[in-house]
Amino acid sequence: KRVVVFISGGGSNMLSLADACNQPDFPAEIVAVISDKPSAAGLAKAEARRIPTRVFERKNFSTKAEHEAAILSALDEIRPDIICLAGYMRLISSAFISRYEGRIINIHPSLLPLFPGLHTHQRALDSGMKIAGCTVHFVTEGMDEGPIVAQAAVPVMPGDTADSLAARVLTVEHKLYPLALQLLADGKARMEDGRVVLDHLR
Ligand code: GRF
Repeated sequence: KRVVVFISGGGSNMLSLADACNQPDFPAEIVAVISDKPSAAGLAKAEARRIPTRVFERKNFSTKAEHEAAILSALDEIRPDIICLAGYMRLISSAFISRYEGRIINIHPSLLPLFPGLHTHQRALDSGMKIAGCTVHFVTEGMDEGPIVAQAAVPVMPGDTADSLAARVLTVEHKLYPLALQLLADGKARMEDGRVVLDHLR
């Protein structure tokens, strides 16, 4: 399966997906990395792995629709089977989503439905959570609310700060995302009527 990864920052999740795709028999390959930020450090990491990169800076387009149209026309040439959002800090429109319905996944650093949105680790700590984690979900119109493909729980330790918790969750993200991508690429997880069907749990 042909995968395009969208990043806006460091791209550590993109890297873990790239490393997983390089394993023999992994059912996916990353054919491009797209970013909305020319300064995204993940771009250099992708280029170091000879993965083609494309940058679509929002300020070069007068409207969100034109920004997305440019990305969509690039995708028409790249022809991805799956799109992985990985630290991509921009909401994509329902028009974009319906174009790739059931084929866009995202990783979010909380146990959804808890803590959608930003600053998830600080919010978890402020709420007194003793358990945190990360979620891979299908991307739907709402933010961080699509059907869940996979989740992993991570303990909150005494004295944790948002940074120490984020670091602990991030290492688990790097394991969870490749697993979720493999399920999707193998056809073992798919979206049906807005819900996830997981073959391996039947
Ligand atoms: C990660 O916590 C990820 O869950 C969130 O963005 C953070 C940075 O990701 N989406 P990356 O290092 O850019 O992959």
